[in-house]
Amino acid sequence: MKMLENLKYMTLTWGCQMNERDTEIIQSMLEDMGMKEVASINEADLIVLVTCCVREKAENKVYAKLGELSKIKRDRLDLVIAVGGCMMQQKGVGEKIQKRFPEVDIIFGTHNIDRLPELLNRAFLEKERVLEIWEKDKGIPEEKDFYKKRKDFLKSKVIISYGCNNFCSYCIVPFVRGRERSRKPKDIINEIKYLAENGCVEVMLLGQNVNSYGKDLGEEIDFSDLLKKVVEIDGMERIRFMTSHPKDFSEKLIRTIADYDKICNHIHLPVQAGSNKVLRSMNRGYTREEYLSLVSKIKSSIPGVSITTDIIVGFPGETREDFEQTLDVVKEAEFDNAYMFIYSPRKGTAAAEKFKDDVSLEEKKERLQELMELQNKISLKINKELVGRNFIVLIDSEEEKEGKKIYAGRTETNKIVNIQEDDLSRKLYGTFQNVEIISAQTWSLSGKIVRH
Ligand code: SAH
Ligand code: SF4
Ligand code: F3S
Repeated sequence: MKMLENLKYMTLTWGCQMNERDTEIIQSMLEDMGMKEVASINEADLIVLVTCCVREKAENKVYAKLGELSKIKRDRLDLVIAVGGCMMQQKGVGEKIQKRFPEVDIIFGTHNIDRLPELLNRAFLEKERVLEIWEKDKGIPEEKDFYKKRKDFLKSKVIISYGCNNFCSYCIVPFVRGRERSRKPKDIINEIKYLAENGCVEVMLLGQNVNSYGKDLGEEIDFSDLLKKVVEIDGMERIRFMTSHPKDFSEKLIRTIADYDKICNHIHLPVQAGSNKVLRSMNRGYTREEYLSLVSKIKSSIPGVSITTDIIVGFPGETREDFEQTLDVVKEAEFDNAYMFIYSPRKGTAAAEKFKDDVSLEEKKERLQELMELQNKISLKINKELVGRNFIVLIDSEEEKEGKKIYAGRTETNKIVNIQEDDLSRKLYGTFQNVEIISAQTWSLSGKIVRH
């Protein structure tokens, strides 16, 4: 019989960077138990799914995967399947999955991921089916050193706050991730110091709304103060963060980003919609005028800054005129890039309960298409303006293909740059290079390394 600690595991993750970071923590715990990661379902004895429920599409992908895994398990009875992530935090979903997929052994939530080893023990040794979901966490388990295993040490993600208090009317995140809880500055700084000592040069500070960091701590500290502490850490060359909520973006933060070279000139600033009527029913807490004036303040104070955004089309009550106001905001703000979505009603949210999903799917698809075409043109135009200029690129990918070296990396403004070189002997992974942009595409740039 296989021993728990000798199992080979695989993780499957959907959703945002929060889930990606949670997955790393799960991997870290499994490896501490003695398990090894494998790359295919066929080799795995344990499969952990980390799910997302932000839109229906995300959930459908999880159901499809569960169907596939259940079939596999019928021929491989000793396969252990564990399902966690945001989807499990919705009322009744864990029970529903347990009923519909008897092959699933363990169901856990987002507030008790540190309990996974214990739950695995129960499922594995006692051949029990386990469901454990907590409505809220019992404090952040800082005493366990969860920071050791990372998919990517060069560029690491660090959670600075969990949950969200904003309750945008369409959004499920506050329901499945709970109220906002900031980690203590000393815990964040210790983690980042550890990363810097272990080869990390770029850190991504994560929170649903980083701009309200610290409000729940009994200390005098805000997000700008935290950034200044991170800047002081030796070896940490680049500091990124997401997501910024426009309503909490302070002048002090704009100044901080402008003042420190290490803080990257890239801001992800979701606008969601361009009409004040829609913004109000989304409960976003700002008007289009306030948003646009924030964008222009950011652009004038931080030269060369790139701004990206999220936009939802087809929110309940969104008329053609409302949508055209979204197009107008996109034209005026000139985003470097945008993530664009069709509204998906989420059970339990204010929008799903109060408003009728009254924009037809056909209309939603047309609006999305029109919006994407506009944004793509803008992205390409902005990128083309960068041709001929030089940027510092952190090389994060390196491979040999058809007798050439293919590198890729990102600028401080988070643009992907692809580079091709004839010299096969050089190893540039993890280095900063001065790169001249030679051509531009919609989602990436091509460049050549400038040598002196
Ligand atoms: N905390 C972040 C991100 C939350 S989820 C923020 O405030 O921006 C990421 C994006 O998914 C959101 O910005 C939004 O554009 C989109 N989204 C969230 N709920 C959605 C829903 N019900 N339907 C469609 N898109 C949604
Ligand atoms: Fe959702 Fe709004 Fe919170 Fe973002 S700020 S996670 S969109 S409720
Ligand atoms: Fe999805 Fe949860 Fe993130 S619902 S978008 S994985 S916080």
